[in-house]
Amino acid sequence: MATDDAMPARPMPRFPDGFLWGVSTSAHQIEGAAGLRGPSVWDAFTAEPGRVKDGSTADVACDHYHRYREDVALLADLGVDAYRFSVSWPRVDSPGGLDFYDRLVDALCAAGVRPVPTLFHWDLPAGLDWLERDTAARFAEYVSVVAGRLGDRVGKWITLNEPAEHTLLGHALGVHAPGRKLLFDALPAAHHQLLAHGLAVRALRAAGATDVGIANSHGPVWPASDDPADREAAEFYDLLLNRMFADPVLTGRYPEGIGELMPGSPGQVAADLEIIGEPLDWYGVNYYAPTRVGAPQGAEIEFGGVTLPAELPFSVREIEGRPLTDFGWPVVPEGLTELLTGFRDRYGDRLPPVVITENGCSYEGLDDRDRIAYLDGHVRALHRAMEAGVDVRGYFVWSLLDNFEWAEGYARRFGLVHVDFTTLERTPKASYGWFRDLVRHGR
Ligand code: BGC
Repeated sequence: MATDDAMPARPMPRFPDGFLWGVSTSAHQIEGAAGLRGPSVWDAFTAEPGRVKDGSTADVACDHYHRYREDVALLADLGVDAYRFSVSWPRVDSPGGLDFYDRLVDALCAAGVRPVPTLFHWDLPAGLDWLERDTAARFAEYVSVVAGRLGDRVGKWITLNEPAEHTLLGHALGVHAPGRKLLFDALPAAHHQLLAHGLAVRALRAAGATDVGIANSHGPVWPASDDPADREAAEFYDLLLNRMFADPVLTGRYPEGIGELMPGSPGQVAADLEIIGEPLDWYGVNYYAPTRVGAPQGAEIEFGGVTLPAELPFSVREIEGRPLTDFGWPVVPEGLTELLTGFRDRYGDRLPPVVITENGCSYEGLDDRDRIAYLDGHVRALHRAMEAGVDVRGYFVWSLLDNFEWAEGYARRFGLVHVDFTTLERTPKASYGWFRDLVRHGR
């Protein structure tokens, strides 16, 4: 329950000049206009009964494809410096598909909002498969096409969104598209996405890009207790969620024991790592919450809307004593400080400047004081990391609009702007006004 004391009263600390304030979305979650693009793995997955909890599809979603002008006006009123959206590969593969992003980028530039496209946010064209190595090469070709068309107006690029979640949820646990339950046999999907990232960096560089990053999901992993079995399980989870995706990108190496599990000969994997470790201009972090992890308990576990099978070598435990979002995720702002200072300590000067590419929460209602309290706490936690010496250059809220929240359908609302999914009417929430004030003040 939100109360008045949930409302932030303390003045917000100052952020450096040039700090980038923004909001994020992704193509499949907002665009709709499914008939004007080729199918993606998400269309096939959504069509299978029982896959999406409320039985909905993203065929219309927020109809952003047709209403992008209204959404750009919302961004301009919000006063953000930048807008992170994703380019839909299946749309680009369809006749006239790139024209949409051309129009969107023009509208953003005209409104004084910097376009920050993500080139892959989970909507893989149907028929392609991250278990296949060739998909990485195909991705690089698509990236060259997009960069060739938008590169005259787009400076800042994001290669992939959260290859960790796409591997885990889509290929290991089967709760996201493409719906595979391969557990550890899903690792090739991780390697091929990472290779795709490295090849995309090269393709973007070849097109003249000088401001390139990735958006990886990260969070601190807390052992359930001091028991060695819990600590070991937590370390393993940290390896899967954090290190397996950050180490190769930032250091050109997999954590010990992981490279051997990846597809290809040792020589091939080593050559791939050279590509994956291409230097970046900045590193994007999507942060939502820490995870508390202990030794396996020999039973299935419900966690954040996902059922984790009993045979995993760890179990996820509840973080007690914290407010929960509507999704059941604990609200732990200081986890962001811990994460960022931990990254600085772990990677040292291999860590380029950081941008928070996603942070947000699901709550119902227009008077969303819980969201304000969440965002306020996290922005302050971010500032504390900066005071501790972490070089952070931007912060993007997930999300501008309520949208298609993957397997949850429309049941989870992450937007600063409410969307009525019957009329498609947009209504700014209280948090929209709060963020607008923050951005003004931040400057
Ligand atoms: C994803 C978004 C998603 C959000 C909230 C992130 O993992 O990048 O697409 O909507 O989390 O679940």
